[in-house]
Amino acid sequence: MAGQGYDPIETASRDEIAALQAERLAWSLRHAYANVAHYRAAFDAAGVHPDDFRSLDDLAKFPFTNKQDLRTHYPFGMFALPRAKLARIHASSGTTGQPTVVGYSARDLENWADLVARSLYASGVRAGMLLHNAYGYGLFTGGLGLHAGAERLGCTVVPVSGGMTERQVRLIADFRPDAISITPSYMLSILDEFHRQGLDPRASSLKIGVFGAEPWTNAMRREIESGFAMDAVDIYGLSEVMGPGVANECVETKDGPTIWEDHFYPEIIDPDTGAVLPEGAFGELVFTTLTKEAMPVVRYRTRDLTRLLPGSARTMRRMEKVTGRSDDMLIVRGVNLFPTQIEEHLLASDLLTGHYLILLTRDGRMDEVTVQVEHQPHVTDDAVLATESLVVARRIKDTIGLTLRIAIERPGSLERSIGKARRVLDQRGIS
Ligand code: DLL
Repeated sequence: MAGQGYDPIETASRDEIAALQAERLAWSLRHAYANVAHYRAAFDAAGVHPDDFRSLDDLAKFPFTNKQDLRTHYPFGMFALPRAKLARIHASSGTTGQPTVVGYSARDLENWADLVARSLYASGVRAGMLLHNAYGYGLFTGGLGLHAGAERLGCTVVPVSGGMTERQVRLIADFRPDAISITPSYMLSILDEFHRQGLDPRASSLKIGVFGAEPWTNAMRREIESGFAMDAVDIYGLSEVMGPGVANECVETKDGPTIWEDHFYPEIIDPDTGAVLPEGAFGELVFTTLTKEAMPVVRYRTRDLTRLLPGSARTMRRMEKVTGRSDDMLIVRGVNLFPTQIEEHLLASDLLTGHYLILLTRDGRMDEVTVQVEHQPHVTDDAVLATESLVVARRIKDTIGLTLRIAIERPGSLERSIGKARRVLDQRGIS
């Protein structure tokens, strides 16, 4: 049954949602074609024109957009408005190459704040609550995105940003926030810091956590929920499409993020052929923006692998929790593997933690995989840990089919991230 959302459109009939999408898609395609040279050239090359869009199924005729297109048109070439009409710019860190730049009009920022307010509401956050926002502020969309949405909802926001873990815990203890927004991997570091300071995390004021910006498993959800006695809810988004708040889980069901379909049109495609897959099939998620003025994106390939699911707490469709990006898939001795598959096995052990790093090395012609993982502080017997490393490696072998070594490390020995965690270190090219 459809629940009550922040905005009536969340529980509108499917017909009403589809009609709105068709109307907005027609506008967005025309807007992109008329104002962005890249889209004009790409549509012309594919032999399609915005007039060819008459119903939702026609979208499949239009060409995809990918990260490389944004890099080619760096910095402002994908904008559909003159630079002077933009209210804000965000960008990726650019650590792996040319940064990707995204822009927002004043109206885009309004819509974004509304959608993050809607996302926080779906998470269980309400006006008057105190939100500790530990996503990074700056060019990354996480900090400012959550901030504006929380203010829009009527929360009191503490703009802590990431880092200085000791201070994060002191502020949580002193300000008594109801909710926290943060990457799930950094939340585990906060959990450790609570213990280090002799504080009981289950007795903290935190009741809701809004976690995203990186893949995380339901095993991680259980770890955080039991560690803090809180509800852990999934927020999804990407800068190219908007930032956080493209989709968000509803706290009453916790069954995968509901996509805010009145602003973003989702498709699932076969990543190899580009064919649109039927509803429910697993593949790559693609988004077309329906309302964005400054930087519309048409059929943007996210690289995130998931499936579309029918609505549950809302009439809008859900996506299955994203546990892998095609970029993160490792192929080791012919076995395909996502870091989150390892995470599930590590967290299934009472002796191990979610602090882990997958190390790939090459011994002669053979790829070797070592999973470094910290053990729980309460375990002190080395013999017990040695046995556990074999047991977990055996379980992984039996389920994933990959032989690997589990190297159990002391608590605090692995490098911590204050934002998105790095889960893989590939040293195969280094001899
Ligand atoms: O990470 C936006 C964001 C900020 C989302 C804060 C949620 C909270 P980007 O830096 O552009 O934007 O990275 C986007 O991160 O394509 C996914 O691969 C991954 N990602 C984001 N949210 C989730 C999630 C922000 N809830 C990329 N689960 C996306 C899994 C996620 N992966």
